[in-house]
Amino acid sequence: MSLIVLCAGGHARVVIEALLSRGMRPIAVADAARIGEVIGGVPITESDDDVLKMPADTVELANGLGNRASRSDSGLSGRRALFDRFAGQGFKFPVIAHASAVIASDAQLGDGAQVMAGAVIQPAARIGRNALVNTRAVVEHDCIVGDHAHIAPGAVLCGGVSIGEGVHVGAGAVVLVGVKVGAGAVVAAGAVVTRDVAAGGFAGNE
Ligand SMILES: CC(C)(COP(=O)(O)OP(=O)(O)OC[C@H]1O[C@@H](n2cnc3c(N)ncnc32)[C@H](O)[C@@H]1OP(=O)(O)O)[C@@H](O)C(=O)NCCC(=O)NCCS
Repeated sequence: MSLIVLCAGGHARVVIEALLSRGMRPIAVADAARIGEVIGGVPITESDDDVLKMPADTVELANGLGNRASRSDSGLSGRRALFDRFAGQGFKFPVIAHASAVIASDAQLGDGAQVMAGAVIQPAARIGRNALVNTRAVVEHDCIVGDHAHIAPGAVLCGGVSIGEGVHVGAGAVVLVGVKVGAGAVVAAGAVVTRDVAAGGFAGNE
């Protein structure tokens, strides 16, 4: 099945590397503003609208859009909207896992979940749809990562952690055993989270 990466940002290049590590070369990147360019050896040949005109069963998609979090916003709504727009039209987003990722045999990964280089996902963990477990992040046993959440590079979720939908866990953060982070919350890069975080809340490291 042919695969197209949506959106030509920095995250798209990481996605392309993960695909290449599995011997899968995307046929194209879709990004209207950059048609004619090449990223990660893959040509940008069309717009999102062009992809939407294709029969949904002839191509698979990968979400190439990343996010920039602030204290008040996980910045993940664009990545989620892109996924929902195409999934809602019947397009399939396969799980993408870099060849160097370690994923327990009984871990569950939802449609379009992405697991990047060196990440580790331990037994009975559940990773939601369109969720991103980024480079060298660790998701320990029995964790739940909600749909559209981003566990940024090097972050560690200790056992039994629950991460809500659309949460951003910043790079290098540590979420301690059993902590629950509510939907849409933001965890700062480098934070150590010892208590539950309310939906839409913020956990810093001061
Ligand atoms: C915490 C965070 C969400 C704040 O973002 P923001 O609301 O845009 O805030 P700003 O960047 O304007 O920073 C505000 C202040 O907080 C400080 N600050 C920002 N992030 C910080 C962090 N993680 N730890 C400690 N201090 C931080 C800034 O230095 C600044 O301090 P100042 O007011 O004394 O100058 C953000 O910095 C962060 O950690 N994002 C996660 C990044 C990440 O995981 N990226 C992965 C990409 S793959």
